[in-house]
Amino acid sequence: MNFLNIAKRRFSVRSYTEQAVEKEKLDKILEAAHVAPTAANLQPVHLIVVQSEEGLAKIDKAANIYGAPLAIIVCADHGKAWVRPFDKKQTGDIDSSILTDYMMLQATELGLGSVWICYFKPDVISREFNLPENLEPVNILAVGYSNEEAADPERHSRMRIPISQLVSYESL
Ligand SMILES: Cc1cc2nc3c(=O)[nH]c(=O)nc-3n(C[C@H](O)[C@H](O)[C@H](O)COP(=O)(O)O)c2cc1C
Repeated sequence: MNFLNIAKRRFSVRSYTEQAVEKEKLDKILEAAHVAPTAANLQPVHLIVVQSEEGLAKIDKAANIYGAPLAIIVCADHGKAWVRPFDKKQTGDIDSSILTDYMMLQATELGLGSVWICYFKPDVISREFNLPENLEPVNILAVGYSNEEAADPERHSRMRIPISQLVSYESL
């Protein structure tokens, strides 16, 4: 399947079956994260893979992961992230999100559902997973087998702003 087909087929899954994600599939998802680019290749990112009942219960205290059997907490390491010298903008969140997106699309290609989650209590995640000060949980990617009807891959003409509104050429 070509890239655009995978991107169009992906949708946010908010109901999962109980089927666990196979180790081979998890390994591929993590490999996708591993090859993702980061600013200056500093790789200021750490992934916490959570599949155990205890681990998922800890996440439940901070977020709704819709019953997914697998959650990957994507953390930015603010001690390692690149900083743009002109305005001191730090790219930890951007780097974390690129990894998250790579994993999400790899999950789609493997026939898995996923949903990107930012609506969580970061202080609770930090406490429950004993994160050091420099590690910020930026995203949680919930992954599993979808219990929902697949979304229409052609929905984006209705669900997104028109390309003409999204893009301008040469100037605003
Ligand atoms: C940065 C980001 C944060 C998101 N946070 C949440 C979230 O906390 N909970 C949730 O259910 N969906 C979340 N989503 C999913 C979006 O709501 C969803 O991608 C969007 O509505 C488009 O729908 P689609 O993914 O089905 O194409 C998030 C998506 C992104 C990119």
